Amino acid sequence: MLKLSTIQKKQIVGITGLAMVGFVLAHLSGNFLIYKGPEAFNGYAKFLHDLGALLWMMRAGILASFLLHMGFTINLVITNRKARVNRYYKYQNHRSESSLATQLMPLSGSIILIYIIFHLLDFSLADKVGIIQGIDYGLYGLVINTLKDPIHAVLYIISMASVGLHMYHAFQSVFQTFGLMSEKNQPRLVLASKVLGVAITLGYSSIPVYIMMNF
Ligand code: HEM
Repeated sequence: MLKLSTIQKKQIVGITGLAMVGFVLAHLSGNFLIYKGPEAFNGYAKFLHDLGALLWMMRAGILASFLLHMGFTINLVITNRKARVNRYYKYQNHRSESSLATQLMPLSGSIILIYIIFHLLDFSLADKVGIIQGIDYGLYGLVINTLKDPIHAVLYIISMASVGLHMYHAFQSVFQTFGLMSEKNQPRLVLASKVLGVAITLGYSSIPVYIMMNF
């Protein structure tokens, strides 16, 4: 069987992570169409569904990225733990020296996993029926009716903050993994990661906030 080194596994985690950052940004730009109303939002969903086989290929790609990302992360954590127990391995990034975002990676990652399961049940796997004032607005109405419930909206916002925090740490880590971080570009990469994390959190959270305030 193919035996991968730790660095190769980290590289796979990094590349699949970047693929998911791409998906999260594309999904956010599509979701922003909610501000343009039901026609624009449902039209975009229809456009995606009409892609047929191409959509399924993209779904397969994102699912494969997700599974590889999780699988290799769990594998690396187990290997690290074993190495530390055996005292053969000095963990370079000791807990007390690592940032809060780093320490929260397992928590934010687990929240994202649970979130995605419930999110797919909310929208992808649900009947696309959303009745607002007696009229069925399809997927648009479903999103509005789901997120106007404050408990649902708050859980979404907590999940969006977890996505932002996870990506803030992960984005800069990829550059480190590939040896692309230097003393010179580090401050800029850290800033870019912060901007990405905050933009994702605020961009996505704006949707439940807008829905709660307007419906
Ligand atoms: C306010 C935030 C969000 C809203 C309103 C939203 C909305 C939606 C909707 C309406 C769908 C169903 C599309 C369809 O069946 O045509 C969907 C699917 C999906 N969403 Fe979200 N989403 C949000 C945040 C997120 C985030 C943060 C992630 C990832 C971390 C995510 C991951 C997914 C995935 C993986 C699918 C399945 C895509 C597919 O079946 O092709 N969503 N979302």
